[in-house]
Amino acid sequence: MRIRVLGAGAGGGFPQWNCNCGQCQGLRSGSLKGRARTQSSIAVSGDGDHWVLFNASPDIRAQFENFPALHPRDGIRDSRVKAIILIDSQIDHATGLLMLRESSQPLDIYCSDMVRQDLSTGFPVFSILAHYCGVRHHAIPLDGSPFSIPGIDTLRFYSHALKSKAPPYSPHRHDPHEGDNIGVVVECLTSGKKLYYAPGLGCIEPSVEQAMQSADCLLVDGTFWQEDEMARVGISQKRAAEMGHLPQSGEGGMLSVLARYPAARKILIHINNTNPILDEASPERQRLDALGVEVAFDGMDLTF
Ligand code: MLT
Ligand code: MN
Ligand code: ZN
Repeated sequence: MRIRVLGAGAGGGFPQWNCNCGQCQGLRSGSLKGRARTQSSIAVSGDGDHWVLFNASPDIRAQFENFPALHPRDGIRDSRVKAIILIDSQIDHATGLLMLRESSQPLDIYCSDMVRQDLSTGFPVFSILAHYCGVRHHAIPLDGSPFSIPGIDTLRFYSHALKSKAPPYSPHRHDPHEGDNIGVVVECLTSGKKLYYAPGLGCIEPSVEQAMQSADCLLVDGTFWQEDEMARVGISQKRAAEMGHLPQSGEGGMLSVLARYPAARKILIHINNTNPILDEASPERQRLDALGVEVAFDGMDLTF
């Protein structure tokens, strides 16, 4: 199985267009040692030729251009992306669908019923796309039972609902439903290896523990270092928990969670521009290095 990180940033990316925080400013001026990151998405393939896209970021056009395996090859119009799995209906994960409207086929989109509802009401991308390429929606099981995707022969998928948050625009933002947000295990049938992908993880439930225990590679929520990080920088009073993200530091934080599992690679993804781990010279980043926890970057390639 091949995994390509298309975008390792959270909503807004790094640097964010209107952000003058120390990190965004430091990256622009060159005083911060680090890399720019586009918004949250990965691509996964069993054969290196047919790809599944996880999330469709607003930065999708540049992400595809920067990854030759996704360039068209067969005929005048072609996509190497055979299906799209949506983890949730957040703006940073769904807006890129509009950029795929030129597709010569309806988009095959695998997501929960709650995500389908959000993308047909609060942010009616599916309804809009009906006037362009169209959407074929495939409901995915949330009980951990396996599902497969036609044309993606060597990968098998398992998903479970997560306690996180529906987007601010969702008609049920303050009324959580099963499937507002999911985690996905991808199993490679040729190597037997497993990836666990959960870029928005607010709470470590039994289904999460089980997925983490089984996976060879963890690509999990790296949004915030601290619960009140946005307030500390003076950006917003919103806390990590309120946004459905588990911070890395502190008791019960993501670093203490990751320490419990045997995965060969433990990688943080969906990193907000305020997170000090983006600064490669920061003490927080050095702590990750010492723990063997990696920070995803745009263009990161993994093979399992
Ligand atoms: C989130 O996951 O909380 C988002 O990155 C928020 C957003 O896209 O605005
Ligand atoms: Mn997000
Ligand atoms: Zn910033």
